[in-house]
Amino acid sequence: MDGTRAGSLVAVGVGPGDPELLTLKAVKALQGADVILAPKASREGGSVAAGIVAPHLDPERQELREQLYPMRKDPAELEQFWRDAAQEVAELLAGGRRVAFVTLGDPYLYSTFLYLRRFLLEQMPKARVEVISGLSSIQAAAAAADLPLALADERVAILPATFEDGRLRQTLEQFDTVVLMKVARVFGRVKELLRELDLLQSAVYVRQVGLPQEAIWHNLDAVDEDDLHYLSLIIVKK
Ligand SMILES: C[S@@+](CC[C@H](N)C(=O)[O-])C[C@H]1O[C@@H](n2cnc3c(N)ncnc32)[C@H](O)[C@@H]1O
Repeated sequence: MDGTRAGSLVAVGVGPGDPELLTLKAVKALQGADVILAPKASREGGSVAAGIVAPHLDPERQELREQLYPMRKDPAELEQFWRDAAQEVAELLAGGRRVAFVTLGDPYLYSTFLYLRRFLLEQMPKARVEVISGLSSIQAAAAAADLPLALADERVAILPATFEDGRLRQTLEQFDTVVLMKVARVFGRVKELLRELDLLQSAVYVRQVGLPQEAIWHNLDAVDEDDLHYLSLIIVKK
């Protein structure tokens, strides 16, 4: 299946930011879609995923729509946004449109798409959904920071840095490599924990990998408040 069937939804992983890091399959699916849906976090801001795919689209033939998924801590508050987005997709599919939902990195890793899919299948259990995997920000960050994620029998953990200290500490103690996603909001707390565990020298902060603003810090003490961005992660490699 290539995501171009009438009345079908294809989730396309668009990679971390560089339009050249889309797969050939992703480009083909995007070009076959009538409507491209791109998530964004605020009414005022734009969609990063939309910016990545825009060079591959034909505005004369294709419609690029943004969908709002605000960042809220409480999933219950988000539910209405997911339901509305799923309804929009269900209506498009019922009308025979070929829909592509674009998502940063890979659709199966901490992605909004996973919620959209759940609510869509609730509303439309027979919806045809395909997923095209993308290069996740983790892989791109490892390459950009020149930091192999794992070798031989090393173990890797991936988790949101927003976990409470106890669980973070446990993971940092048990694994050889730890990738901390969504780190910007809790950067100070995570840095102090790494210092306490004597892991500060083993940590690298990678911001906006693949985008023009990409930056990498091998010294976390040199990261200022202004340097922090939602699209960033820390790799701790012992
Ligand atoms: C909702 S998750 C999405 C992850 C995505 N599905 C992936 O495969 O990379 C958002 C988190 O992914 C990480 N992330 C996504 N894109 C990034 C980028 N270009 N540079 C650095 N981190 C990124 C950040 O930790 C961010 O807080």
